[in-house]
Amino acid sequence: MSTIIITGGAGFIGSHVVREFVLKYPNYKIVNLDVLTYAGNLANLKDIEHHANYTFVKADITDANHVLQIFEQYKPDGVIHLAAESHVDRSIVDPLAFVMTNVIGTVNLLNAAKTIWKGDFEGKRFHHVSTDEVYGTLGEVGLFKEDTAYDPHSPYSASKASSDHFVRAYNDTYGLPVVLTNCSNNYGPNHFPEKLIPLCIHNVLTNKPLPIYGDGKFTRDWLFVIDHARAIDLVFHKGKNGDSYNVGGFNEWQNIDLVKELCKQVDEKLGREQGTAASLITFVKDRPGHDLRYAIDASKINQELGYKPSVTFEEGLSQTIDWYLNNQDWLDQVSSGEYQNYYKKQYQG
Ligand SMILES: NC(=O)c1ccc[n+]([C@@H]2O[C@H](COP(=O)([O-])OP(=O)(O)OC[C@H]3O[C@@H](n4cnc5c(N)ncnc54)[C@H](O)[C@@H]3O)[C@@H](O)[C@H]2O)c1
Repeated sequence: MSTIIITGGAGFIGSHVVREFVLKYPNYKIVNLDVLTYAGNLANLKDIEHHANYTFVKADITDANHVLQIFEQYKPDGVIHLAAESHVDRSIVDPLAFVMTNVIGTVNLLNAAKTIWKGDFEGKRFHHVSTDEVYGTLGEVGLFKEDTAYDPHSPYSASKASSDHFVRAYNDTYGLPVVLTNCSNNYGPNHFPEKLIPLCIHNVLTNKPLPIYGDGKFTRDWLFVIDHARAIDLVFHKGKNGDSYNVGGFNEWQNIDLVKELCKQVDEKLGREQGTAASLITFVKDRPGHDLRYAIDASKINQELGYKPSVTFEEGLSQTIDWYLNNQDWLDQVSSGEYQNYYKKQYQG
């Protein structure tokens, strides 16, 4: 039986990765290692938390001793590392928190893996989950490829770029078996409502303004979160040692067009007059260092591993809106902070 430590498994993407692995691989033991920051929510995993092959461990990856102790206890064959501070706006306010978790935390995990694997790397793998933001920004044309030079602009992307370099350095220097994925923007169920899509759904439902940075022309490449989890599964199992894979859906949207599509779908689903939700759109002052356009060339993962997203953006967005409409209690609990009591009730008696 393989044991896999998934870090950040209570977060948005991590919870989908944990679910994918717990359900698809009943003979793997999945250990979810998460400190439960504001972004970690164990209620995201309610449906699978009683499965025999799932364990939750509360730990901070910045605590090197605790991380090593957990690795010695569980002896993982694989690590899928998603734990991170992930919100660009927060990184502008408190860059050091991003250095601590995203850089130091990653190095602590690499050290723990290196220590317990003791140079015997047969059947072992460290999968680092990263972002397309490490590549910086694009003009109106071009795509990020795996060999595009790193050029991060925000403290968040600088910390993720640094962690990517450490992961590659451990492969080059110590032979640690690693793979990396750099993915575009994700959307889907369980997304914390500080990010664009859940924020807009939440604000439409509560009749609040829909804030759009600058002129709304910022362009992002969007991927349904479950398709990201499928890509991680594929690269973790089949990716080439030491390689990086860009993950995306060739699906670029300007923020303003995306929000208009979202408004159209919400009005349709709520049986309201078209234009009701869009009347809440409000342009706000741009964030500093805002990258104009990100777009991923995902042809390597497609050609080498046969990866393709399973849904179109319109379908994924529709499923996402339905999920938020059917789970308004989740949204209310997250917005009020009440979800943070879930851990105490569930895991501390
Ligand atoms: N959200 C996106 O669109 C996107 C796109 C590409 C890559 N990524 C990457 O995917 C990963 C997951 O992103 P997300 O959006 O799910 O993030 P998230 O903020 O929703 O979740 C992060 C999780 O990490 C945990 N965590 C944070 N600091 C920790 C620490 N010190 N120790 C242990 N756990 C800690 C949090 O409690 C939370 O559960 C990140 O590495 C991010 O850089 C995200």
